[in-house]
Amino acid sequence: MSVRIFKGTVIYTDTLDKLTVINNCHVVVQDGIIIDVIEGDLNGRYPEADITDYGNGIIIPAFTDLHMHAPQFVERGVGMDCLLFDWLNNYTFPQESMFKDTDYARIIYAQLLYEMIKHGTLHTALFTTIHYDSCDLLFRMLIESGMYAYSSKINMDQNSPEFYVEDTQKSLEDTERFIIEHKDLSDHVKPILIPRFAPTCSRELLTGLGKLAEKYDLGIHTHLVESKAEAAWSKELFPDCASDGEIYEKTGLLKGKGPKIFAHVIFPTETEERILKQYDCVSVHCPDSTSNITAGIMPASVMLNKDMKIALGSDVGGGHFLGIYRQIARTVQISKMKEFYEPDYKRLVFANAFYMATVTGGEVFGKIGKIKPGYQFNALVLDNLQDEGYTLTPEECLERFCYGGDDRNIVHRFIDGKEIDPQTVLKKLKTIG
Ligand code: GUN
Ligand code: FE
Repeated sequence: MSVRIFKGTVIYTDTLDKLTVINNCHVVVQDGIIIDVIEGDLNGRYPEADITDYGNGIIIPAFTDLHMHAPQFVERGVGMDCLLFDWLNNYTFPQESMFKDTDYARIIYAQLLYEMIKHGTLHTALFTTIHYDSCDLLFRMLIESGMYAYSSKINMDQNSPEFYVEDTQKSLEDTERFIIEHKDLSDHVKPILIPRFAPTCSRELLTGLGKLAEKYDLGIHTHLVESKAEAAWSKELFPDCASDGEIYEKTGLLKGKGPKIFAHVIFPTETEERILKQYDCVSVHCPDSTSNITAGIMPASVMLNKDMKIALGSDVGGGHFLGIYRQIARTVQISKMKEFYEPDYKRLVFANAFYMATVTGGEVFGKIGKIKPGYQFNALVLDNLQDEGYTLTPEECLERFCYGGDDRNIVHRFIDGKEIDPQTVLKKLKTIG
């Protein structure tokens, strides 16, 4: 395959602590993979290559949103006076139940994927609903969009309203059918098990899902110790488990080889710490959602110091905004609040949060998240971040983008070395059958 070169200022994080900045950089891409990164002149190398020069543009890895609720797209920014349980009962369960209708699902999911791509999120782990057909539709839309994703149907068979709850056996049968029908459809989009959270899942359901995890080597995506009330309720429902995490361990849900993704992890106990490390899990920090509907802040710096992996998530509709770049800023902001109120706590810095949003999230999907040989060229080009009469450094431009920029600053998006245009994707998705 022919070689393409993209020229600009490259910024990425090779380690958790530091931004790597390469000015006047040539990123050499073949078959979607970065094969060389050259600072300065090419000195005659790659003479046949097609070069695209982005001038002052900044080339960064594309973002990963590792915890997002696809059906809650339309709820973003509403019901924000509630805490978790009121919000679920008053807004979320009634709204999610509308996804019984696949025409509704098509309209909402097409807009969602369009907006995610527009905001530079090219890899994601999505929560869905209990409805087989809408979940199947979303899965096929994800494949059509070109994005990398983990998705399938969610499971909930108790402590849910009667208009939005599953029969245990039917939930297990539908899930197994979903896996069989979707596991080999795509290299980029894969099924994962999604029990909503421990309080809405019976032991029988979780044990059945555990068997599927082992049989099909599947990962799990769920909420973990998200609020004090949730952790206490889980403990009451599963009295033989030391805490939330052990429920998934004991029911076999950590036996598959797929990724183990736990959202929020605001109140981890020693049990969660052991499990998160032992099973190489990724915790997902969702600072907007944490501020909106739950009470507490993930002890992220403590967890990082103990070698636990943390990615970022929008958790829309608990979170109100899709751009993961804003979650980078919010991660730093709320860690400062935590340090202010708990002086022993050490705040996070920008590079830490950028690493979570690109590398830790990206590596769930393969060699994704760095601008480095061997990694997929899944990247964004940023521009128009300077004011007239005052010049920022490229690092400052990136920071400004995360704090105050928006999708207008993302001028190009690439997946596997190919440019992806949100409008073209939207047109295709609106007509998918
Ligand atoms: N816990 C159970 N369901 C949900 C949900 O939809 N969003 C969040 N943030 N937490 C949950
Ligand atoms: Fe969530």
